[in-house]
Amino acid sequence: MNPSPLAVRCQNVVKIYDTGDQKVTALNGVNLEIAMGELMMLVGPSGCGKTTLISVIAGILDQDDGYCEVFGEDLLSMSNQRKLNFRARNIGFVFQAFNLLPALTAAENVSVPLIINGMKRSDAERKAVAVLEQVGLGARVTALPSELSGGQQQRVAIARALIHSPRLIVCDEPTSSLDHETGHNVMTLLKEVALHKDRALVIVTHDARIFDFADRIAEMDDGHIVGVKGAGLKAKG
Ligand SMILES: Nc1ncnc2c1ncn2[C@@H]1O[C@H](COP(=O)(O)OP(=O)(O)OP(=O)(O)O)[C@@H](O)[C@H]1O
Ligand SMILES: [Mg+2]
Repeated sequence: MNPSPLAVRCQNVVKIYDTGDQKVTALNGVNLEIAMGELMMLVGPSGCGKTTLISVIAGILDQDDGYCEVFGEDLLSMSNQRKLNFRARNIGFVFQAFNLLPALTAAENVSVPLIINGMKRSDAERKAVAVLEQVGLGARVTALPSELSGGQQQRVAIARALIHSPRLIVCDEPTSSLDHETGHNVMTLLKEVALHKDRALVIVTHDARIFDFADRIAEMDDGHIVGVKGAGLKAKG
């Protein structure tokens, strides 16, 4: 029997931040497999390495040791240009701090991944407006990030991560600034976009209200995955 194909495979991944006077081991041998079609949540205490791990998975950070593969590709072995292209096509990332471009409107921010992938600006912005409508921001498409609330900025960041239909969407606390109903709507939309049989969704969260959306929940502590709860198991808050 063939095992189901994997979207992500991490083996003994190590990441050490070296700030000159201090070395911090953020990932200390992470093993994790995420299947195609799976929504994996990642939980664990502050500082345990969640953001670091998803940054390695998304090719934003290079690990210092171990192996990490996304859709069968080893990002570490790619040239910078190839990695940029691969990420632009295949990966959407919602940053914990949103990372919107302050001088661009909501619609312009959301259209960036499409423009990077070669779409005409006017077409990209039209599509961006449609996705902003889906996240409930149809009336704010011309607003700058500084003119939006935290929850609205978060939804712009989510729209930007999914607009180009990437095969892997990685979200760092995507519902932290959202009320229950908006968080629920955003999760439903993320699931709809991301969960095809050749795609996957990874969500770092502390938000127990969205645990039910997960197929599995991986628990991290001190740079390790300490357990993975399978489908059907209710996670506790
Ligand atoms: N750029 C950096 N330079 C040095 N140390 C860092 C850097 N980024 C993170 N760290 C350290 O690495 C460890 C893991 O950090 P990380 O941001 O991955 O944690 P986290 O689980 O995402 O935490 P949180 O829930 O607070 O977002 C922490 O001890 C943190 O202080
Ligand atoms: Mg973090």
